[in-house]
Amino acid sequence: MPILGGMKRKDFLHASGALGLGSLLNACGLGGRSAEPGQTPSRTTNGSAFDLTAPALPTVRVAVFGLGNRGQGLIDMLNWLVQEGHAQITALADVNPTKVDRALEQVAAFQPGQVPAVFTGSEAAWEGAMRTEVADLALICTPWEWHTPMAIRAMESGLHAACEVPIAYTVSDAFALVETAERTRQHCIMLENCCYNGEELGLLRMIEEGVFGTLTHAECAYLHDLRALMLDPTYYEDRWRLKHHLQRNGNLYTTHGLGPVAMYFDILRGDTLTHLVSMSSREAALSEALAASSDPALQGMAAQVRCGDVNTTLIGTAEGKSIMLQFDTHVGRPYNRLNKVIGSKAVHYGYPSRLYVDHGPTWDWHGWLEEGAAAEMRDRYEHPLWTRLQALAAEHPQGHGGMDFVMMYRLIRCLNEGVALDLNVYDGALWSMVGALSESSVDNGSTRVDIPDLTAGRWRERVAHPVGRAI
Ligand SMILES: NC(=O)c1ccc[n+]([C@@H]2O[C@H](COP(=O)([O-])OP(=O)(O)OC[C@H]3O[C@@H](n4cnc5c(N)ncnc54)[C@H](O)[C@@H]3O)[C@@H](O)[C@H]2O)c1
Repeated sequence: MPILGGMKRKDFLHASGALGLGSLLNACGLGGRSAEPGQTPSRTTNGSAFDLTAPALPTVRVAVFGLGNRGQGLIDMLNWLVQEGHAQITALADVNPTKVDRALEQVAAFQPGQVPAVFTGSEAAWEGAMRTEVADLALICTPWEWHTPMAIRAMESGLHAACEVPIAYTVSDAFALVETAERTRQHCIMLENCCYNGEELGLLRMIEEGVFGTLTHAECAYLHDLRALMLDPTYYEDRWRLKHHLQRNGNLYTTHGLGPVAMYFDILRGDTLTHLVSMSSREAALSEALAASSDPALQGMAAQVRCGDVNTTLIGTAEGKSIMLQFDTHVGRPYNRLNKVIGSKAVHYGYPSRLYVDHGPTWDWHGWLEEGAAAEMRDRYEHPLWTRLQALAAEHPQGHGGMDFVMMYRLIRCLNEGVALDLNVYDGALWSMVGALSESSVDNGSTRVDIPDLTAGRWRERVAHPVGRAI
């Protein structure tokens, strides 16, 4: 694994990305079995963290790690939950003291009189906040290289871990997260906010109510021009995100596209991802932007970019569904997650949302539903969770059009009630691991890579997705 910007990851992560895939799987409890072509290796321990519950926490004490763009955004999402007594922000951790001061002001606006403890000034200061005397929940919003070490330390210390995306970017880290959650009995959720968006929740409801018939294929993506943000000297602390693009090639950000599709496709709840092939295009747009910069340091990076402009990964499932997953944060084009779902009875394309409802094999009807009919469908199938929470949070910041609030509401309220979370450690680890496996495939001429089963076979149990529950 590359060491990014001089940051050293903690030694407690037992496996190194320098190992090959087979070695990693062996190192992670596969008892010496390696992946045969066409055979998905599986873990030997049982998937007992699947419906994990933990004692109810009437007020969840939250420690926030990483107070940059996302940390600030998620603090805003806690505003209503804090005011209602469901949560309290008890600790703030960031290497940069200026970011801590900013966050202290932000929290004071809605949590007067309860000043969070502060952990700052060094790269290891965050470790002091990982104590049950300080918090119940570690909310991790740091750069990617800190996600797995912080989530593991949280669980080992008796805290639940809620981590930004992706929660891992090596296979060994994905296995380590699952193993730690099973052993410690702590929650470990990856905060995939796109699973909570109104369009995606509405589609899930249509799928659950049979509108799409038999699902066959989906196309999803993260297409977001991040060049300006990656080149900016202050937007991402120490330009951490750019460094990943200099050192890695594949899909570096799988989960915004893949997460919702995994819900539609019952992934880990009756079906699973079995194999993939991945191809990256040549690189051009990011290096051209670097070369055109007036900063000599950035110009010097132009020749180092490894990540191709457009990565395309094809994923197969055990039931024979197919998924096309794309990643591009280099090219100047409008934001898009595609959100295309194909079933035997209906088709949806996102950006903008369009719906086709099958009229049978007729000659003359190939159009999208007209806007009036599509709006009627959207209203009829609007997810009750979305309807209720939009009204509830109308007067507070909602984040990314509302989905961030729904996500944080569900997380905190499930912890309040002591019930299983919407997404478990296997979901986050699997969706993230697809990124690592795409890099393997790209490195090996786009060869097929089998996707390990993290659940010890538990994925076969067909259950409704818990995101729709009532709390
Ligand atoms: N789900 C979403 O919609 C969404 C949106 C934006 C970002 N993100 C994710 O959020 C994470 C953070 O992104 P960002 O845009 O906020 O980046 P950022 O650079 O603005 O913030 C990261 C913060 O972490 C701090 N940090 C770095 N190392 C640390 C350490 N050892 N201890 C404590 N603090 C440390 C930095 O000082 C910085 O303030 C990333 O994983 C990103 O993928 C998700």
